[in-house]
Amino acid sequence: MNKVKTISCIGAGYVGGPTMAVMAYKNPHIKINVVDINEEKIRLWNSDNLDDLPVYEPGLAEIVSKVRNKNLFFSTQIEKAIDEAEMIFISVNTPTKTYGIGKGMAADLKYVELCARQIAEVAKADKIVVEKSTLPVRTASSIKRIFAEQKKDFNFSVLSNPEFLAEGTAIKDLLEADRVLIGGENGEAIQALVDIYSAWLPEERIITTNIWSSELSKLTANAFLAQRISSINAMSALCEKTGADIDQVARAIGTDSRIGPKFLKASVGFGGSCFQKDILNLVYLCRHFGLEEVADYWEQVIKMNDYQKHRFAEKMVNAMFNTVNGKKIVFYGWAFKKDTNDTRESAAIYVADKLMDEQAHIHAYDPKVNYERMLEDLSGLRTRVEEKNTELLKFETDPYEAAKDAHAIAILTEWDEFITYDWQKIYDSMKKPAFVFDGRNILDHGKLRDIGFEVSAIGKS
Ligand code: UDX
Ligand code: ADP
Repeated sequence: MNKVKTISCIGAGYVGGPTMAVMAYKNPHIKINVVDINEEKIRLWNSDNLDDLPVYEPGLAEIVSKVRNKNLFFSTQIEKAIDEAEMIFISVNTPTKTYGIGKGMAADLKYVELCARQIAEVAKADKIVVEKSTLPVRTASSIKRIFAEQKKDFNFSVLSNPEFLAEGTAIKDLLEADRVLIGGENGEAIQALVDIYSAWLPEERIITTNIWSSELSKLTANAFLAQRISSINAMSALCEKTGADIDQVARAIGTDSRIGPKFLKASVGFGGSCFQKDILNLVYLCRHFGLEEVADYWEQVIKMNDYQKHRFAEKMVNAMFNTVNGKKIVFYGWAFKKDTNDTRESAAIYVADKLMDEQAHIHAYDPKVNYERMLEDLSGLRTRVEEKNTELLKFETDPYEAAKDAHAIAILTEWDEFITYDWQKIYDSMKKPAFVFDGRNILDHGKLRDIGFEVSAIGKS
């Protein structure tokens, strides 16, 4: 097979955008079209002001500025992009189903199927179709069926190439990937994709497997990572009862090379677009195959995460004399982790919702998240009418202004800037007793107590 000269990527989101930017940067001889149905998103990807890019990732804007309109193009012309490319990545969203069979568990594949159908209809020559979205195992076979039904006299090869980048470090994760996984059956198609990645990664980091192993590896990797967080969070609850300190425990166990130090940071709970969705998917898959015990085992990781979020909110209410009704509570952070503007499944949403049930007044500040996004996150929970959300959740643009007359400050995201704030100034402007609830264990608690704060953290008594 000749080398790929044109790639198209359907879906210009958190995965498609950064991945294609790096691919274009490292393969200047390949033209890459990134297309999306969302016109506003494409307009922002093409914006002259790089601060407007729809995805915030450290290092992304620099790379986009180097390759955009040279060999990386953002547009809404999906059919043209399909027609032009020898290789097409599907990077559309696969949220958890909110209706029908598998509601709340299975991945909603309608966007993937729509893409596959569109590719099948438009294509006039051989195509390599690469699944980039996180998908349930055996999705590739459904995609192949759709292509087979078209009965066209050229080949569609389907590859699975799951994304392992983490938001906030996406560019680094792409440039220095631990591994790239390519699942497929057609050797030529696999080689074509290997060639693209080997432009910047050593070949030994490019793992090829059969397509099912590749699809399942993505779910397994995320399940294992999330399981570590739920495990450390479970121990954090016990630490709070016993006087042990979760950060000390994590450090002690992390030095065991069999356990390792990463992903042992106790927190208010994991968020993000992948962990919960992928585990629910895994649980659904296991139930489908009658593996009840396996399903229950993984489901517990989610239950522990829900428990951690609720526990945090409850602890806040208990500490504040069992009532937060009418009290001003300031959230520092709304994103699901630092260095991203993504809020999907962020613990902040669930903690806010619970406190709003208690009639608290939440004032939220996040360096990268806007008010519209926060309100959409809350309305997605459908707990109360929109007007009530607007009444109980206020937006703040200045962390010091936000703190004025507040009863409490809660850290929901581990943004570095929170550590460097003038906490004496914050204390002076707050109502007393002034509470700090550190859901990320990032602040200097001793220093805060010296100032006069009542401090409560995760896994510390
Ligand atoms: C994850 C996987 O890491 C990545 O490989 C996959 O491609 C997509 O899903 P992401 O969700 O972007 O990436 O971020 P990640 O760094 O994994 O964090 C997920 C959540 O876990 C965040 O809310 C984070 O704050 C939380 N977390 C992470 C902890 O609470 N403690 C930790 O020790 C690590
Ligand atoms: P991810 O984190 O998986 O990248 P996002 O929601 O950030 O998820 O991005 C997925 C993108 O896919 C969205 O911008 C959405 O508009 C786009 N999309 C969904 N379906 C289609 C489709 N059929 N054609 C083109 N783009 C699509």
